[in-house]
Parts: sequence; structure tokens; C-alpha cells
Amino acid sequence: MKPQIIALLGSPIDDGNTARLLSEAIKGAEDAGCSVIKVDVTKLKFSPCMEHFYCEQNDDCMIKDDVSPLLKRFRKVDGLIIASPVMTMGFPGAIKSFMDRFQVFFMAKYVRKDPLVTKEMKKWRKALLISIGGMNVPYDFDGVRLSMRAFCDITDFEYWEDVLQNDMDSIIDITKKPDKIKEAYTKSHEMCRIIAEDKKKYSDEVKAE
Ligand SMILES: Cc1cc2nc3c(=O)[nH]c(=O)nc-3n(C[C@H](O)[C@H](O)[C@H](O)COP(=O)(O)O)c2cc1C
Repeated sequence: MKPQIIALLGSPIDDGNTARLLSEAIKGAEDAGCSVIKVDVTKLKFSPCMEHFYCEQNDDCMIKDDVSPLLKRFRKVDGLIIASPVMTMGFPGAIKSFMDRFQVFFMAKYVRKDPLVTKEMKKWRKALLISIGGMNVPYDFDGVRLSMRAFCDITDFEYWEDVLQNDMDSIIDITKKPDKIKEAYTKSHEMCRIIAEDKKKYSDEVKAE
């Protein structure tokens, strides 16, 4: 079976600059032999984490909504791509709320010491961050990078690389930056190639035993 990648779009604009970079990354992943499930996070109907703490004792969230099947799917996917604009110096509200719901993974891993991701899958699970920001300041991506690092830690993906472009308020159209579009394709292709290779290596080792 092909390795599976989840690609999250955090921008509400389907055909905007973030979406353009994500579609290049999806092409890169598919060309590397992976299958990709794209999720438009702003189109999902879901609640933010309400701190019921049900997940402290249970390996699920007590809130049942569009996030529920994705919590299950995240246990099994091989790679992750998150593409998001910067808003108020961090991830926009919808995708940040989506990430917060993965407290289910945090509780399992750090409180009950019974992670939802197997030791084997950790050998190849990797994640790529794609982010753009309007401002031309050196700290533009500090917020999204910190949240990405925390999210990858709790969901057991290696935070492999990122593709970042600030100053979008002046650039306006990402097609004026062909190198950035190429970078989204190339980094995703490379990450997914490594995932496929590492996963195959592991399954060959198991077969040989
Ligand atoms: C509500 C809101 C808040 C924003 N806050 C920031 C910010 O803090 N820093 C920044 O660099 N850009 C900020 N931006 C600009 C967006 O990151 C920028 O317009 C980006 O290109 C949008 O990408 P998209 O059209 O693909 O969604 C903000 C935009 C919006 C709508």
C-alpha cells in the first residue's frame, strides 16, 4: 500500500497563495509515490477543545464532530503537510483549534504513557510546514514554528522541514516567486520519498525475520 500523507490547508481561501503552495507540495508527494488526503480545515464543522479532560482516561475525544474521524486517521498516516498563512503571529484560529483537539494524543503519550502512534511508525513519520506571512519581519514564523514543533511532538511526527515566505503584502502573488513554488514541490517530494523508502525498509526487515 502507498504511504499516506495528510495535507491540511489552514487558509480560508481555496485558490490563494497558501493553497497554491500546498497544491505543489501535494504534486510532489504524489510523484514520490504517496497518496494524499487533503483537508480544508476551515470547511470542517467542529468545536474547539472544551477541556472536558475525557481524553485523560480515554484514547478518544468526547466531542463528536468532523474532527473525530481525523483523530483516528492521524494514528495511521505516514506523513503530514500543514500549509497555513500567519495570522496574528501564529496559526489562524481554525487550524489552531483543530490542532488543540489532538490533546487526545498528548494525554495518551505523556499522561497514560501509552502513545497512540506505534514505535514502528515513528521510524518514518515526518511533517512539512508551509507558511506565508504578509509582514516583512524576521520573527514572522516564530509562532507557527513553535506550535508546529509542539504538534509534531504530541502526534509523533518528526518536524522535517519548512517552506516559508514572508512579505506577502508586497509580493501579493506567489507565482512571482517561482523558486518558492519549486521549493514546496521539491521538499515535499524529498520528504515523501524518504518516508516511502524508510517504510519499505522496515517492512522488508519484518518479512526477512
Ligand atoms: C486576520 C489576519 C491576520 C493576519 N496577521 C498577520 C500577522 O500577524 N503577520 C503576518 O505576517 N501576516 C499576517 N496576515 C497576512 C497573511 O498572512 C497574508 O495575507 C497571507 O498572504 C494570506 O495567505 P492566503 O491568501 O493564502 O490565505 C494576516 C492576515 C489576516 C487576514
